[in-house]
Amino acid sequence: MQPTIEQVLGWTKEAGEIARKMQGGNLDVRYKAAADIVTAADTAVEDFLVSKIHAEFPDHSINAEESGEQELAADHTWYIDPIDGTLNYAHGLPQYCISVAYAYQGQLQLGVVYSPPIDEAFWAVKGGGAYLNGEKIEVSSVELLRDSMLITGFRNYLLDTPRSNIDNFVRLSREVQTIRRLGSATLDIVYVACGRVEGFWEIDLNPWDVAAGILIVREAGGIVEGLYGDSDLLTGKVDILAANPHIFPQMRSILLEERNKAGINATQP
Ligand code: IPD
Ligand code: CA
Ligand code: CA
Repeated sequence: MQPTIEQVLGWTKEAGEIARKMQGGNLDVRYKAAADIVTAADTAVEDFLVSKIHAEFPDHSINAEESGEQELAADHTWYIDPIDGTLNYAHGLPQYCISVAYAYQGQLQLGVVYSPPIDEAFWAVKGGGAYLNGEKIEVSSVELLRDSMLITGFRNYLLDTPRSNIDNFVRLSREVQTIRRLGSATLDIVYVACGRVEGFWEIDLNPWDVAAGILIVREAGGIVEGLYGDSDLLTGKVDILAANPHIFPQMRSILLEERNKAGINATQP
């Protein structure tokens, strides 16, 4: 049996309400690593979503940020980021979201991204288009980098390595209107889907950060691939590029130039 979008949308919005209500309370912030925290809300939201999925689909596998990978049925896999943008959330910034995706035989079937502070729900079902609060969305039609706004992010632990992303940021900044760093990779991706920005890229993300967003951007007419070429975006660490079809090749070629200039295989840590 497979889930329906109504079911997953309902769970994700309920999960969002849990996060929203908890934001003002004691968040019990703990460090997983430097600059990488988990709050009581991350755990509560993930437990809530996992329990809903288990109750309906007891044999489905779940890959969730805080509890890791539970491999059960090989054909059915869920990807959960209970709160994407946890640092924003813990600082009281209203830029965070809940992300849930479901894949059958390795193919994304549905994805929901919900932003509680502004009550925005993005979703897509494979082959059915992408939606924001019930309205169909599409990527922007901007054709030139110089007319584009992009978004990216940086991993602190990569800053002193060849994979820092700083050189990419500097180089692309010269070509575009501007580049934002908003702190929620999942919202960054869906902002490409609804045409708020033309492109997004980031290095060293995880499948739960991107799974729902990938489907939503593709269903909105955008392109999503590995940063330097086609690659598996649902396993291991993920270097990702998402953009409208005009901007995608232009970003790709600059990112490849930067990688070649560095003279390293920047896909390796
Ligand atoms: C983080 C956010 C951030 C990105 C980090 C992610 P989290 O997810 O998406 O924008 O730059 O790489 O880890 O930890 O808030 O779920
Ligand atoms: Ca995340
Ligand atoms: Ca998270």
